[in-house]
Amino acid sequence: MQDAAVPVRAERLRKSFARHGEGSLAAVDDVDIVVAPGEFLTLLGPSGCGKTTTLRMIAGFEEPDHGRVLIGDEDVTELPIYRRNIGFVFQSYALFPHLRVFDNIAYSLRVKRLARAEVGRRVDDALQMVGLGGYGSRYPNQLSGGEQQRVAVARAVVMQPRVLLFDEPLSNLDAKLRVQMRLELRRLQQELRTTTIYVTHDQEEAMAISDRIVVMERGRVVQAGTAEEIYYDPSCDFVARFIGRINAIAGVVADASADAVEVEALGVRLRARADRSRPIGTPVTVLARPESVVIAGASGSGIRGVIKERIFLGEKIEYLVDAGGLTVQAAVYKPMGMKPFDVGEPVTLDFDDKQLRVVDAAVAAE
Ligand SMILES: Nc1ncnc2c1ncn2[C@@H]1O[C@H](COP(=O)(O)OP(=O)(O)OP(=O)(O)O)[C@@H](O)[C@H]1O
Ligand SMILES: [Mg+2]
Repeated sequence: MQDAAVPVRAERLRKSFARHGEGSLAAVDDVDIVVAPGEFLTLLGPSGCGKTTTLRMIAGFEEPDHGRVLIGDEDVTELPIYRRNIGFVFQSYALFPHLRVFDNIAYSLRVKRLARAEVGRRVDDALQMVGLGGYGSRYPNQLSGGEQQRVAVARAVVMQPRVLLFDEPLSNLDAKLRVQMRLELRRLQQELRTTTIYVTHDQEEAMAISDRIVVMERGRVVQAGTAEEIYYDPSCDFVARFIGRINAIAGVVADASADAVEVEALGVRLRARADRSRPIGTPVTVLARPESVVIAGASGSGIRGVIKERIFLGEKIEYLVDAGGLTVQAAVYKPMGMKPFDVGEPVTLDFDDKQLRVVDAAVAAE
């Protein structure tokens, strides 16, 4: 039934928009994206970084100034939207309010003049797939937000498109439903094995749903990789701060060997993995996730600090520790049975070397 999954490639995509009196702004600037057949790839980044514009160029809603889009082996850059065989789900659902659920989903099949029985069968299949069997005769305004979102998904998959594109499809739903729906979308995509590009600015959603994530900043791709790769090996300070929480510690390269580097920071030498080698004396930033910080009593051998804040969160305690003027975030997991440190208590801090990462010195501090 479904064709074999196809790869999607965006090559050096660029798009500028004219701005009032300020020349033009490159909303998307030389973006390369490669999506493997059947892969679930997410474009992640802050508001305005060019995610929607990129997706719209892949779909064909927007014409690139430069670059091309390939689906399978075919260059589709010049093809109109309806010839690209893409399913698109918007944030706003964009359902036809005057059409019943069944007719909303059947709409594009009828445009294609499919036989009546075939339309009925495919719409029913799509409704089943999104868990809305029996909802066909309702109108959109008789559905909850989550149900409307499912109709929008059913309408996209019913065409059996070669590619599925989602632009923040869950952002109008409440937090709990969003978590449930992202699991459903993931399951559906794994069932269909349709190559998928998904846009969100929610890093947790991206990590939960994707095979791979492309992080964008100001119209450019700053990193592409699995959630683990991006979390543990952020390519720069921006990515590190955007994905999860992180301590950014200023330091200077003191010794550099092949795979690890020693950095003078906070009055001690930290050993860390580096994204590339740098000469001795180079100013750098050491990135440390809160869970890589080890807190011990004042008699320990690490960096001296004082507990500024303690936040109990059940499965972990978060501490803010003042270490010579720098506030270090530390997370202690499974705190049950351990005596917590008190606010004002002097402590010592150590880092788990394996989890430290060195990148270029931050351009602008927080
Ligand atoms: N039609 C347009 N005309 C002018 N500027 C535009 C247009 N569409 C987008 N832009 C600008 O291009 C940049 C990227 O916009 P885009 O919508 O792609 O961002 P986004 O990453 O999807 O953001 P968000 O998370 O807020 O949806 C923004 O600065 C935006 O103002
Ligand atoms: Mg957008």
